[in-house]
Amino acid sequence: MEKIRETGEERQARLLEAMMEVDRGNPERIQHFLKVWGFARLIGKLEGLDADTQEILETAAIVHDIGIRSCMEKYGHCRGKEQEKEGPPLAEELLGRLGYEERVKARVSWLVGHHHTYAHVEGLDYQILLEADYLVNSYENHESAEQIETFCRRVFRTPSGIRLLGLQSGRQFDGKERI
Ligand SMILES: [Fe+2]
Repeated sequence: MEKIRETGEERQARLLEAMMEVDRGNPERIQHFLKVWGFARLIGKLEGLDADTQEILETAAIVHDIGIRSCMEKYGHCRGKEQEKEGPPLAEELLGRLGYEERVKARVSWLVGHHHTYAHVEGLDYQILLEADYLVNSYENHESAEQIETFCRRVFRTPSGIRLLGLQSGRQFDGKERI
């Protein structure tokens, strides 16, 4: 029987494969976005996001660093601001090709363009994307306990994100006494 409509999970699987294509030959970047997606998905579930916001969050987590390759090719380096500029049109194009709705494309590409901006964070999708990215970055960049604690105070807001960062680093950042 001919398949009329693919499920969200099937579409997501195609997106994951397409992002591996974007980052082909670069296992660090592939492992990075897979881990950010994993944490974003987990925090979203623990925080009880509605299905639409969860989909936007997961999609943004998968494509958030899509601008890095073209950034490196254009400038030879990739700072946050340049990446925020390069990423959104690439995300729009990829999501469009895979049949994502306008609403999802617009919000995801906006998130891609702001994922290094920590001021005026509005929306749980944005907040959780920042937290998931940091859960991975702090490990990949070997950040110190002090750096992690400072970032947690400055940026982390969701109870689940704060808990997971504490679990990962073997510390507790939620102000509660250790039992
Ligand atoms: Fe990232």
